[in-house]
Amino acid sequence: MDWRGKHVLVTGGAGFIGSTAADALLARGARVTVFDNFSTGFREFLPTGEGVRLVEADLLDAAKINEAMRGVDFVFHLAANADIKDNLEEPRKCVDQNILATYNVLEAMRAAGVKDIVFSSTGSVYGDATVIPTPEDAPFPVQTSLYATSKVAAEGLLTSYAFGYGFHVWIFRFVSLLGPRYTHGHVVDFWRKLKRDPTRLHVLGDGKQQKSYLHVADCVSALLTAVDRAHEPINVMNLGHDYWIEVDASIALIARTMGVSPRLEYGGGDRGWVGDSPKILLDTTRLRRLGWAPTKTIEESIVETLRFLMETPYVERRG
Ligand SMILES: NC(=O)c1ccc[n+]([C@@H]2O[C@H](COP(=O)([O-])OP(=O)(O)OC[C@H]3O[C@@H](n4cnc5c(N)ncnc54)[C@H](O)[C@@H]3O)[C@@H](O)[C@H]2O)c1
Repeated sequence: MDWRGKHVLVTGGAGFIGSTAADALLARGARVTVFDNFSTGFREFLPTGEGVRLVEADLLDAAKINEAMRGVDFVFHLAANADIKDNLEEPRKCVDQNILATYNVLEAMRAAGVKDIVFSSTGSVYGDATVIPTPEDAPFPVQTSLYATSKVAAEGLLTSYAFGYGFHVWIFRFVSLLGPRYTHGHVVDFWRKLKRDPTRLHVLGDGKQQKSYLHVADCVSALLTAVDRAHEPINVMNLGHDYWIEVDASIALIARTMGVSPRLEYGGGDRGWVGDSPKILLDTTRLRRLGWAPTKTIEESIVETLRFLMETPYVERRG
């Protein structure tokens, strides 16, 4: 895809992944409209320079997204309530932010005649997967978290719009991502706790959960590669590394990088929280066939994430 001169609307463009995607699109010559309500995004992450427009608004405000969609060629819909753990406290928020907001984006696209959309789903849709590494066509009859449920619903909306209205949709089921601008997830949780008390660390679950992670730059390069080379009306792709790391190993690396030796206290059980999938390793053959491969190891990504957190005090202030 030649992005030069294309006008791309990035929802969640002030967030971790959205801002990284916006930078990559701008570097390829696109014009970018960031649509964000700054609920979890940071002004410091916003792309700058010529070709950037900011719409500070909520996706639940249909008039605002309708207006922002005028003149747009392509949508990267990366805004969501991305916190898996907290969704049980406010299920309505999850439904609003992840399903209704997606519906508003799709309706705005339909009204403006925009048909191409990249969407960030999650590897959590597979729940407690029975096939590992998990391919895209693995069955997932039972949802274990509201977050994943909301993503399955959003995926359904996208594929229905592809069938019903001729949309082209690229749906990516990500593992957890790491790297610069990371502001939520296990590394920041452990980092915060260890800064407060370096002598001990409370760990959710038994420390044996095994999970694949991916660097955010490798994620964005995968999105762009897929848009370039996969041209079905509906393209569903897993995104992750080809190995996983145990939570205990991740903690050891975090502690070593921070120069601390905490005593570990386990919450117990085989998972961190209700809806947590203790084993996540996705089969990424589809993406790799397009010529994509990760460039950073999980370990490098963890260290880079910590470095970002240590050098970026404003992330700490939000926590
Ligand atoms: N980070 C991960 O590990 C991961 C893994 C799997 C999937 N995802 C998905 O990737 C996408 C991006 O996640 P992220 O990690 O960058 O999260 P993030 O919280 O850093 O970014 C989300 C952005 O969306 C904005 N936003 C949220 N609700 C909004 C609304 N109603 N209207 C306007 N803006 C709104 C926030 O302010 C924020 O800037 C999400 O869809 C998330 O579910 C993330």
